[in-house]
Amino acid sequence: MAAPLRIGLAGLGTVGGGVFKILDTNVELIERRAGRAITVSAVSARDRHRERGIDLGRFAWVDDAGALAARDDVDVVVELIGGADGPALALARSTLDRGKAFVTANKAMLAHHGLELAELAEQRSAALKYEAAVAGGIPVIKGLREGAAANQLDRVYGILNGTCNYILTRMENEGLSFDAVLGDAQRLGYAEADPSFDIDGIDAAHKLSILASLAFGSRIDFGAVATTGIRAVDSADIEHAAALGFRIKLVGLATAESDRLFQRVHPCLVPHAHPLAHVDGSLNAVVAEGNFVGRLFFSGRGAGEGPTASAVVADLIDVARGEIGPAFAMPVARLSPMPLADQDAHHGRFYLRLTVADRPGVLAELTAALRDAGVSIESLIQRGQSSDGGVFVVMVTHVSTQAQVQAALDRMAASANVVGTPMMMHILDF
Ligand code: NDP
Ligand code: HSE
Repeated sequence: MAAPLRIGLAGLGTVGGGVFKILDTNVELIERRAGRAITVSAVSARDRHRERGIDLGRFAWVDDAGALAARDDVDVVVELIGGADGPALALARSTLDRGKAFVTANKAMLAHHGLELAELAEQRSAALKYEAAVAGGIPVIKGLREGAAANQLDRVYGILNGTCNYILTRMENEGLSFDAVLGDAQRLGYAEADPSFDIDGIDAAHKLSILASLAFGSRIDFGAVATTGIRAVDSADIEHAAALGFRIKLVGLATAESDRLFQRVHPCLVPHAHPLAHVDGSLNAVVAEGNFVGRLFFSGRGAGEGPTASAVVADLIDVARGEIGPAFAMPVARLSPMPLADQDAHHGRFYLRLTVADRPGVLAELTAALRDAGVSIESLIQRGQSSDGGVFVVMVTHVSTQAQVQAALDRMAASANVVGTPMMMHILDF
């Protein structure tokens, strides 16, 4: 039997704790699959004295996580601290620079520094593994990098944030407020240290930028993801969408049409008939379309201790087997810097919700704004009384460009008859 693979583990929170549980519970199975034992040598976290339900006396404690990489009894560093920069990035750089393997669940760091780290890994022939960083326990990184490697992929999209999906699902099923449900998502260990990363769509944008690079062979371009979170989604939108045959999901979508990169994270109306409409709670799902394989649909738990740690340990098994391979499916030098698609030119149907004064001529004013922008209305409903004393007007447009709909919306928003900020959401039509 080969020598054990020895881990230096930085971060003993939700995911770090889960890694211990899996390594302890499935110890023999993991050894048989990996071809050698996987053991922990040293650990690091902020607070040495915090009770974690783990017997840490078995391992060396390191106050400065950065010191893990240099230890002679560490072959692979597992980074479960989080944060795009700071100690996580310093640890990644020092580990890979030493030619040691690095396993992380840190999508923020990869979205910002993934190419630099992948280049360093290539130069030092070290493994850089990050299955847990996108969609938690779902093996979508392997799925795209290896399983779908023979295909040209032109579109990848999905539900990439468990916290948002959990919130939207409970708002819909139980009529709960956004704030009440966010607290539960935090208690369950789904949310990021700063939950605004979840609800403002940033976490999903991190993941989408990584998926797009893998799918299209392009350089990661997190800055080019047009991102809107779920703060503005009202329970009235959830009800209206249901009445129209849709469910609201935060969807990340990336396309490579005409060799231009389009990336967007937005709340979206998903038709009931689409499989994404039935991905609930903290579940995530990723859809990829390949030119030979057709539509691939990956789904499973996208957040939480067990699922995320499962992906981390899968990476460790790969490392134990000596599987290195390029982090983003091809050497960094071969990833193309794709020009960006014009977001405003993107076509689709749109959902619009406005609160308006209930007086003659208001609907005519709204429809005139759409007519003048060249937007045709597919359906229009005026419903109920809003909390602002106005009435809701909900419209679904025919296929239009985002620029057309935005122009109409800007004009409507400026009207004295419109109360508050109008809501616009994309409709998923494929
Ligand atoms: P937690 O906040 O639960 O845990 C973070 C851990 O990092 C804590 O143990 C903390 O120490 C430790 N830590 C913080 N700063 C330092 C430092 N400077 N040096 C050493 N240790 C430090 O986070 P999660 O486990 O939820 O997340 C970890 C990573 O996994 C993040 O990148 C996150 O985005 C990612 N991820 C999380 C998922 C989830 O469902 N939670 C899913 C997918 C990815 P202490 O305990 O002493 O405070
Ligand atoms: N905060 C993230 C989520 C964790 O809610 O999906 C998984 O990446």
